[in-house]
Amino acid sequence: MSLFKRKHKASSRRERIIVTEGAARFGSYGYTRLRDNLLYISADGNRKVLQIESALAKEGKTTVTANLAVSLGLTNKKVVVVDLDFRRPRLHRVFGLARENGIAEYMVNTIDRDGIIKHTTYKNVDLVTRGGTVYNPALILVSEKFKELIAYLREKYDFVLLDCAPVLQVSDYIHISKVSDGALFLVSYGKTTKAQVADAVKELNKNDIPVLGTLFTMYDRKKDARYGYSYGGYYGKYYDEAYGDMKKATVADIEEVDEIGTKK
Ligand SMILES: Nc1ncnc2c1ncn2[C@@H]1O[C@H](COP(=O)(O)OP(=O)(O)OP(=O)(O)O)[C@@H](O)[C@H]1O
Ligand SMILES: [Mg+2]
Repeated sequence: MSLFKRKHKASSRRERIIVTEGAARFGSYGYTRLRDNLLYISADGNRKVLQIESALAKEGKTTVTANLAVSLGLTNKKVVVVDLDFRRPRLHRVFGLARENGIAEYMVNTIDRDGIIKHTTYKNVDLVTRGGTVYNPALILVSEKFKELIAYLREKYDFVLLDCAPVLQVSDYIHISKVSDGALFLVSYGKTTKAQVADAVKELNKNDIPVLGTLFTMYDRKKDARYGYSYGGYYGKYYDEAYGDMKKATVADIEEVDEIGTKK
């Protein structure tokens, strides 16, 4: 064994999953709100397969996917999180599980669809990892076998959360949208520019991908006392029957969010 073997980086669930069953931890309130909004708009069961998207890398997609799953699981919803960030799969680390035996192995029939479902230590939350290296994710995403997997998960679970790669970097989201019911779109506070958000939202709109909600991540409460409670990374705007039927987010909607976020 190499002397220089890198110690497994502690991007552990201790650091990254803040939702707990007991007393609310600092920051977890945002996830509770997100979960409750999601439960509300999904009450008819038609919005259960969700792609978690953002314009750029490192905006908190994996973190939100994991915490939202744990939060939903605590309300007795059965949830599976699926790692569809084929280039930078990280969900397994957040849950402290092995990456092996995932979608890549399922695609080549090394293992069947039930074999790739891993139980996490969190109540009602299962995980499907990427598995081994995937050189051409698009080929997987357009395949019937992949679509069958998601259809199977849709039947088996109340929610299927798809952790995706950044919209402005990889076009996988277009293929993924064929199996999802819509997207949650994250914006990293103070980092992602309005133009980048607008570009990403235009891409989603162009491909008819409904944005079911927008969220702020990396919120710095010190910078804005007005939304001081939402450190956990959430500011949501949901479209439901009260506002008319579900609609696609427009750039104007996102600008409104951006404006709130940058307000001093
Ligand atoms: N709400 C938050 N506040 C502060 N830091 C956060 C928040 N959410 C995530 N982070 C941290 O930011 C980093 C990136 O988060 P994460 O991996 O979830 O982003 P991502 O969008 O999935 O990135 P990638 O596109 O590379 O997969 C991590 O170190 C994570 O711990
Ligand atoms: Mg990620």
